[in-house]
Amino acid sequence: MINRIIKKEVLGEKIKRIEVEAPLIANKALPGQFIVLRVDEKGERIPLTIAGKDIEKGTITLIFQEVGTTTTKLGLLGEGDGILNIAGPLGNPVEIEKYGTVCIVVGGVGAAFVYWMAKAFRDKGNYIITIIGARNKNLLILENEMAEISDELLIATDDGSKGVKGFTTDVLQNVIISGKKIDYVLTAGPIVMMKKVSDITRRYSIKTVASLNPIMIDGTGMCGCCRVSVGGKVRFACVDGPDFDAHSVDFDELLKRTSLYKPYEEESLKRFYHRCKIGLGQ
Ligand code: FAD
Ligand code: FES
Ligand code: MG
Repeated sequence: MINRIIKKEVLGEKIKRIEVEAPLIANKALPGQFIVLRVDEKGERIPLTIAGKDIEKGTITLIFQEVGTTTTKLGLLGEGDGILNIAGPLGNPVEIEKYGTVCIVVGGVGAAFVYWMAKAFRDKGNYIITIIGARNKNLLILENEMAEISDELLIATDDGSKGVKGFTTDVLQNVIISGKKIDYVLTAGPIVMMKKVSDITRRYSIKTVASLNPIMIDGTGMCGCCRVSVGGKVRFACVDGPDFDAHSVDFDELLKRTSLYKPYEEESLKRFYHRCKIGLGQ
């Protein structure tokens, strides 16, 4: 069995963490890189960030939220099951330097994108302020893990069920206004949130990097699907990114492009649930 899942955990509502045997990828992977996988022979390709690795065990860690057909299918696999294909490591590792104070601003599943990068920034000697947000406390992920690698952890929930009632961007604004000097911001999660983070930090001239999540197919620069506009130039997030200077990203275009296939994705998930209900499985 290749690409065998050796450990599976439920981190929150529809959020799973799996440790998968992939020794060649584990050997080379660095924080900021991702893989592209296919669950089965009928499956589409989806990218997932590498959230950690264990070279001795020959494994990589993936954390994902079940948002549609493929992530739901992946979430149905258990320990001992195999994933059909995994290609990687893909994309560029993030540049890890000692900036001083690094503020990590993440919403939704964004913590999965940045966890390994944040750890690398901490190991480099940066002071880490993490701001995590979600709609409610049940959707907060990696809170304990982020707390362990952060000097300060601040939480925002839309409904106030944990931390501050409001958005991560309100918290970020307050941290900046309080006079704390922030040297670098790393943001990941909903596109609207990354755009707001970028608008705030631009006003204070704080270097900001956004980990982008456009639709990807091959992950190797060939299909053109993941193109984003950065500083007025076309970039392919899979080979030029996925991390970019947030102040130069055209987030409105990114938002439009990622929602392009919404009706088909919804139809696909409906059909998948129907097939499961009548016993045809995947
Ligand atoms: P669908 O119903 O097909 O799509 C739901 C939404 O997901 C779409 O509207 C679209 O915005 C996005 N999406 C759909 N297909 C793709 C695709 N092929 N490529 C990218 N986005 C797509 N999610 C995680 O939960 N954890 C991660 O660590 C993670 N890392 C990512 C790293 C990168 C570099 C990128 C680009 C995306 C990452 N994502 C991650 C997002 C993840 O790829 C999508 O949630 C997943 O593809 C959705 O597939 P689906 O069939 O379940 O949902
Ligand atoms: Fe095909 Fe980037 S995913 S070019
Ligand atoms: Mg899909």
